[in-house]
Amino acid sequence: MKRLLLQHIDVPGIDTLSVYREHGGYKALEKALKDMKPDDITEEVKKSGLRGRGGAGFPTGLKWSFLAKPEGVERYLVCNADESEPGTFKDRFLMSKIPHALIEGMIVSSFALGAKTSYIYIRGELLYVYHILEKAIAEAYDAGLLGKNIMGSGYSLDLYVHPGGGAYICGEETALIESLEGKRGNPRIKPPFPAVKGLWQSPTVVNNVETISAVPHIVNMGGDAYAAIGVGKSTGTKLISACGHIKKPGVYEIELGLPVEEFLFSDEYCGGIRNDKKLKAVVAGGSSVPILPGELFLKTANGEPRLMSYESLSDGGFATGTMLGSGGFIVMDEDTSVVKNLWNFTRFYHHESCGQCSPCREGTGWMEKVLHKFLEGHANMNDIDLLWDIQSKIEGKTICPLGEAASWPVASAIRHFRSEFEDYVKNPQKIKDVKHYYRVNNLDPVIN
Ligand SMILES: Cc1cc2nc3c(=O)[nH]c(=O)nc-3n(C[C@H](O)[C@H](O)[C@H](O)COP(=O)(O)O)c2cc1C
Repeated sequence: MKRLLLQHIDVPGIDTLSVYREHGGYKALEKALKDMKPDDITEEVKKSGLRGRGGAGFPTGLKWSFLAKPEGVERYLVCNADESEPGTFKDRFLMSKIPHALIEGMIVSSFALGAKTSYIYIRGELLYVYHILEKAIAEAYDAGLLGKNIMGSGYSLDLYVHPGGGAYICGEETALIESLEGKRGNPRIKPPFPAVKGLWQSPTVVNNVETISAVPHIVNMGGDAYAAIGVGKSTGTKLISACGHIKKPGVYEIELGLPVEEFLFSDEYCGGIRNDKKLKAVVAGGSSVPILPGELFLKTANGEPRLMSYESLSDGGFATGTMLGSGGFIVMDEDTSVVKNLWNFTRFYHHESCGQCSPCREGTGWMEKVLHKFLEGHANMNDIDLLWDIQSKIEGKTICPLGEAASWPVASAIRHFRSEFEDYVKNPQKIKDVKHYYRVNNLDPVIN
């Protein structure tokens, strides 16, 4: 298995500039500034097939090519390091272990986009990572890798880290931009998209930490070589944060296309289900994506082995598939209550809804209340249909996709685990005895 982002993760001192450079760090920047034009870099990123690692999987090179470039108008690159999706903890890992990987990516990408000022917007609670980044950025300035006339190339860049207030909604790119401008983090109506009117109404690219950190590797190895890793349109490597009832929770770098079964059961990765219990369900891409029962997760509806790729995980649409999302892999064993877990996710979305759109503001609260009836043993069979009805009135009816993020877990839980809801209606005591569910609003992602 090829490792790019985490190749040197175990090297002592890899968080420092000197050790990072000893292991090939800032070679891509040198190559970009000395041998390449900005558009050449965008071309290589396009060839690489790199897709945004923040969740939506949009092709990065294409996004960059949409950036408006009017003469005399500033452009910005903003790195989305908000990482608040329950189950996703890869970006903080990468930034804290190898901060220069992101900083080099920011400089190379800013050069490609013609940005003179760039920002890393980091989740407020990740203060320890903020300090690590600040230290690394200071090292880069001292070494002439940031600031004026980088490596004598004539290109200058200032890079700032901006901590947010710890709101999940500020991970949505336009809410993030509002927050960066000092306002309340409410998503903007699109169009205009950030590529045309973003930060300070100027053309802006927003990319995830992992996306930007992949760019130096693409510059070093070339877009074609990067595209040769992976499968189909899922090229390159992907960080997966794996948690829940597995023997070896952690952050793993996989080549896209790895069979799901191998990822879940081999000792190289998750090591199988804790206490050798049976697999019940998996949420593959962070709390927002549809939950799948174990059997549908391992094999598609056609009986094909499921792969860790954008296409394979979504095979069958939402009827029988899910999404790779941000790679937040939450595994639940046979003792887990999907309903109680869902109530907890829904509580999170209700708490984090910015309140701007009524369907999301009200609907997430209603869903939480109805789910709470199941927990209290007061639910009846009609409540299952009521839940379905509420979620269907949120999806697609809000300014930003937080509405979908709240509806999809509810819809998929009813679709695949209706009998569990029914069982709790008939046997209310059962849910009161449940101990296993995923705790959100917690920086240590575990299932208890
Ligand atoms: C509610 C919500 C929260 C999000 N949180 C994050 C996040 O923490 N990090 C992230 O990279 N993208 C997040 N996104 C996706 C961003 O809006 C955006 O698509 C992404 O930063 C683009 O980067 P990429 O193309 O490199 O993936 C979120 C989206 C929504 C709707």
